[in-house]
Amino acid sequence: MKDLPKIALGAWAWGNDGTFGNDFPADSLKPIFEKAMEQGLNLWDTAYAYGMGTSEKVLAGFLKGLPRDSYFVSDKFTPQCADASSETAMKDMIEMQLGLMELDGFDIYWIHNVWDAPKWTEELAKYFEGKDNVPLLGVSNHNLAEIKQADEILKAHGLKLSAVQNHYSLINRSSEESGIIDYCKENDIHFFAYMVLEQGALSGKYDTAHPMPEGSARAEAYNPVLDKLEILNAELKKLADKYQVGMAQIPVAWAISKGTLPIIGVTKVDHVEDAVKAMNVSLTDDEIMELEKIADSLEINAIRFWEKEMK
Ligand SMILES: NC(=O)c1ccc[n+]([C@@H]2O[C@H](COP(=O)([O-])OP(=O)(O)OC[C@H]3O[C@@H](n4cnc5c(N)ncnc54)[C@H](OP(=O)(O)O)[C@@H]3O)[C@@H](O)[C@H]2O)c1
Repeated sequence: MKDLPKIALGAWAWGNDGTFGNDFPADSLKPIFEKAMEQGLNLWDTAYAYGMGTSEKVLAGFLKGLPRDSYFVSDKFTPQCADASSETAMKDMIEMQLGLMELDGFDIYWIHNVWDAPKWTEELAKYFEGKDNVPLLGVSNHNLAEIKQADEILKAHGLKLSAVQNHYSLINRSSEESGIIDYCKENDIHFFAYMVLEQGALSGKYDTAHPMPEGSARAEAYNPVLDKLEILNAELKKLADKYQVGMAQIPVAWAISKGTLPIIGVTKVDHVEDAVKAMNVSLTDDEIMELEKIADSLEINAIRFWEKEMK
């Protein structure tokens, strides 16, 4: 497999499922996709759960006709979307998703969350055991004990856990504090950090005077703590001014400096341009420490309804 880029792009918002409070028609997303590919950001993270196939279909439309080795597709098995009563649930789900994506195989495939995860990881292992072109296999929203268990299950079938995908941001460092990131580094496992921008709350666009779109899931999560976030955002702004970049680039640069691979949700062309620039920002150790100190002092609970603390 080719080397992965330093940043992945996320297509959850492309599923138009009410999380973000705006609708993104495929026409408006095409220039974003094209800009990203032109800039070498070619790793796309999606899931059937993102609009029940909507995100996957939009992405498939953009990828159609491109050389298969010019991009990576990272897709997920969401246990809640599978027919648990079927003996072929894993096969059915994977093949249905490949059909939606018009692909022969994925580059990365994840167990999306811990709902009956050992059973589904076993099914995943049985499905891929002995096959050619096995994707990188990963687990998401797993704590350290669950990650080790998944690795054991895969190993028993001659496979390997190659990736972990968890929420990781300045205001949710529990994957770091619980030793998951170190474990990944020690065991040759890619750690993908999702929601590094806290769905826009750390981009500088929102504050108490400019809350997130009313009625969206992200508004519910972040609008109540915008006053606290203003304190962290003031520090992000200071660094953005120093490095002459946009504010959103600082949390992304932070995540890269911590040895993680951030997945950035992109819904505008300039989000891609910012992500590219963020790869060239090197924060100093003191700046990282100060950012983390301020973020910790706010004591924001950023754990979302599908997550848990990674103890
Ligand atoms: N495995 C899981 O359970 C899981 C869970 C969550 C996410 N993910 C993955 O991680 C990806 C990223 O998460 P996310 O999309 O939820 O959140 P995110 O990356 O933290 O935030 C994305 C939002 O931030 C804003 N933004 C992005 N770049 C910006 C920039 N340069 N300047 C200003 N604003 C910017 C945009 O919103 P506005 O412009 O509208 O403000 C965008 O929709 C998802 O798409 C998905 O692929 C996985």
